[in-house]
Amino acid sequence: IAVDPFDLVVFGATGDLAYRKLLPALYHRHRDEQIPEVSRIIAASRRNLSDDDYRKLTEEALTKFVPAEEREPEQVASFLARISYVSVDAKIDDSGWADLARVLEEGKDRVRAFYLAVSPDLFGVICEGIGAHGLITPQTRVIIEKPIGKSLASATALNDAVGKVFKESQIYRIDHYLGKETVQNLMALRFANALFEPLWNAAHIDHVQITVAENLGVESRAGYYDTAGALRDMVQNHILQLLCLVAMEPPNQFEADAMRDEKLKVLRSLKPITAKELEAVTVRGQYRAGASAGGPVPGYLQELGRDDSMTETFVALKAEIENWRWAGVPFYIRTGKRLPARNSEIVVSFKAIPHSIFGDAAGQLVSNQLVMRLQPDEGVRLWLMIKDPGPGGMRLRHVPLDMSFAQTFKVRSPEAYERLLMDVIRGNATLFMRRDEVEAAWKWIDPILDGWQASREAPKSYTAGTWGPSAAIALIERDGRTWHEEIE
Ligand code: BG6
Repeated sequence: IAVDPFDLVVFGATGDLAYRKLLPALYHRHRDEQIPEVSRIIAASRRNLSDDDYRKLTEEALTKFVPAEEREPEQVASFLARISYVSVDAKIDDSGWADLARVLEEGKDRVRAFYLAVSPDLFGVICEGIGAHGLITPQTRVIIEKPIGKSLASATALNDAVGKVFKESQIYRIDHYLGKETVQNLMALRFANALFEPLWNAAHIDHVQITVAENLGVESRAGYYDTAGALRDMVQNHILQLLCLVAMEPPNQFEADAMRDEKLKVLRSLKPITAKELEAVTVRGQYRAGASAGGPVPGYLQELGRDDSMTETFVALKAEIENWRWAGVPFYIRTGKRLPARNSEIVVSFKAIPHSIFGDAAGQLVSNQLVMRLQPDEGVRLWLMIKDPGPGGMRLRHVPLDMSFAQTFKVRSPEAYERLLMDVIRGNATLFMRRDEVEAAWKWIDPILDGWQASREAPKSYTAGTWGPSAAIALIERDGRTWHEEIE
């Protein structure tokens, strides 16, 4: 469904996020005729560029980040025609703001969205500028993105700065993982089927695993990454959001506050990890040189250009949720750079059957698992025990019921940003994080970071292209479980 006419202002329009994600996403929505005729994309940054200069940069970005077969010349041309450029230096009061106000005046009855694709230390000053120059209409929204802080205190300060100018209902905090198809499908799977929900609790589920593995290193982002690390970069936001969606109670409707109330309850039920347990339930790693995709790759410190760093590029941990539904069910989490593959999944492992009638000759019984694959090849797999075909007696095998979205639907799976940007225009905040969620997540993360810092222990080294330090395997094996590996 096409959305209402809108003007989207992108601050930080010459940055990586705009080129890599926002422009390609908007282009795809344009190409699918989801963007109303009059809608405009107004690019803003400090650089002194003309409309045409910026259109050229956009064209280059599309060439790089949109497959050739999706770039029909007439589509690209009509997309570029929507784009204009305004040079604004957010920090200087009279630099560009009046120009932006003039451009926006023409669309004052449209939905207006400001995307702050800039470093978070500019969120406050840009919001102030937007407010001070009278650019907020009743239909105005602002979009911000992680990192929303480095700790609870800094996240609160950022939220305060944005909240001084915008009401909470106008603020859209993007977590792009919530826009991924599989993640939304988790909601469909749980709440549009009668099959799973009755089993979705500690009585029937043994444990849950969430793996977000990347094969890339930090490469050119080492500067930012070294101030963050895997726990802040991936766990505080994306992975805790996934955990919330797996663990939350059914909201009474698929609506922003109903969903967010339930997610918040999960975050508040996370068992705090104390300094004493830290070593037993968390593992930090940092990759050294190794191999990826068949070739040698440098280690993290080499990419960073330094001799030492305490930043983790891998983290594994065991989280627990203290409520009736989940008491005693561990949630094992792991994420890292330079792992063997880009492979992200949520695995729900059911309990073993109470008694086998088949005897040893049938082979080993493996408990059921529901695997939701986020990437690559999005889909859902339900692992079951099945009889081996043939007359040779009762031999049992662990076999998947498999659903790949690409094969089932035969359509291109939209990128997360496509869905999320259109949701902002529609005024639908269901897939965005509310302030209290972000802060509750930090409240759980802060003591882990503090504990690591206090311990002064360096992250454990792992070879690039492997599944992290061996301590991550020990973490789960101590509990008599193993990390899930697909057996094809
Ligand atoms: C970002 C992190 O939020 O998510 C990156 O900052 C990470 O470090 C990226 O690479 C992963 O996103 P995706 O969609 O490629 O899994």
